[in-house]
This record gives sequence, structure tokens and C-alpha cells, in this order.
Amino acid sequence: MNDDEAAREHFVREHTVLARPPLVPELVVTTATDVTPLWHATEAWLGRSGLAIPFWSVPWAGGQALARWVLDHPESVRDARVVDLGCGGGVVALAAARAGAARVLAVDVDPFALTATRIAAEENGLATKLTLLCEDVTGRALEDVDVLLAGDVWYEEAPARRFTTWMAALRQRGVRVVTGDPGRSYVPADLREVARYEVPTPWELESAPSRTARILV
Ligand SMILES: C[S@@+](CC[C@H](N)C(=O)[O-])C[C@H]1O[C@@H](n2cnc3c(N)ncnc32)[C@H](O)[C@@H]1O
Repeated sequence: MNDDEAAREHFVREHTVLARPPLVPELVVTTATDVTPLWHATEAWLGRSGLAIPFWSVPWAGGQALARWVLDHPESVRDARVVDLGCGGGVVALAAARAGAARVLAVDVDPFALTATRIAAEENGLATKLTLLCEDVTGRALEDVDVLLAGDVWYEEAPARRFTTWMAALRQRGVRVVTGDPGRSYVPADLREVARYEVPTPWELESAPSRTARILV
């Protein structure tokens, strides 16, 4: 572990607890009890302002629903080579590993997300199944992937447009693409719903006690 990663691990452990997501109690993930102070602490630590909310610090409604669906349908990932796009704190990647995926590549553009996912993977005894990648892989062919999972990634217009085009191309090539979404603004309208879950949510993030999240293919 290099010095940056060790410092990030210290920061993540200092500002979160390991907790069981309400819809996925089989797993523990790093969870901020209050996101706003963590948000300020992240900006202070990095010496930058105007940062996006620390997405990695909670399991989002779309990710929890997708993780639940994967655990309830292990055949969807069993022995498969899986990518979790926008892994955040890793709830979907961990569920895929627990459900019997051959291997799981957890991808995010935020290094804190990979740190949080690594910590959670170790806590859940799943570290050997996971590989972590801090890159934007949107548009790549992903030749050696059978299943692409994406939990709660449809909240910004420009990335959502890129994801939509890319995922359509992956589907054409035979990759199974599954997303979990609680009604974000830019979710593609032409996907097929295969399940839905009511996910308990923190009021400070969703202004609601729960969100209905759909599993779309
Ligand atoms: C709302 S969070 C969802 C995290 C997790 N999937 C969950 O449901 O708990 C969205 C995540 O997507 C990541 N993200 C945004 N754009 C991305 C991109 N182009 N490639 C990979 N990850 C991206 C963000 O950094 C963030 O961690």
C-alpha cells in the first residue's frame, strides 16, 4: 500500500463506520453516519472546494437494490466476469462476489471509492475476488467481461448519455448489462424492468424515508 492509499484508508476509517445496508444485511460497507460533515472534511483534506458529494460514503438506493437483486439471483453472475461501474463504496461489487462471480472488477473515477471498496471487501472476506480500477472505462470494448452492473449512476446528464450509448454497444456484443435506479433524472427510458425494491433511505440524502428502485436490463 502506498502512502496516498494509507492516508485515504485512515481518512475513510476515521469518518465512517462499517454498517449493514438495510436492504443488504448480508454485507458490511463503509457508511457515513452524517454525510455533510464528511463532505466538508473531504474538501478540507484535499484543499479543494465545490467537490461533489462523497458518493462512496453511503450505499445508494440504486446500488442496494441491484445488490439485493444479484444476491437473490446468483445465476445472473455465477462464474461470470463482472464489472461494477461506479462502484462507490462497493455494495454491488461485493454482492456479485458473494453471489459467486468468477471475478469482479470494481471501477470508479474517485480514488476514495476504491479505498472504501477495498476496506469493505476485506471486512467481508471477499478481497481475493475483487480487482479495483480507478479509471473512466466508458466506451471501452471490455472484451473479457460477461456482466456489467451499474448501481445508481443516472444522476448527471452528460455521463448518463455516454453510459447509455456504451451500454447499448456492450449489449449488442452479448454483455449482460443490469442497472439499479431509484428514479434519477437521466435513466434511459427504453430499458426493461425485471424487479423493483423499496429501499429505506436517509432523509438528508433523498428527502424521503424510502425510494422505489427498479432493476433494469
Ligand atoms: C451515486 S454513486 C453510486 C455508488 C454505488 N454504485 C452505490 O449504488 O452505492 C455513483 C458513483 O459513480 C461514480 N462515477 C461517476 N462517473 C463515473 C465514470 N465515468 N466511471 C466510473 N465511475 C463513475 C462516482 O464517483 C460515484 O462513486
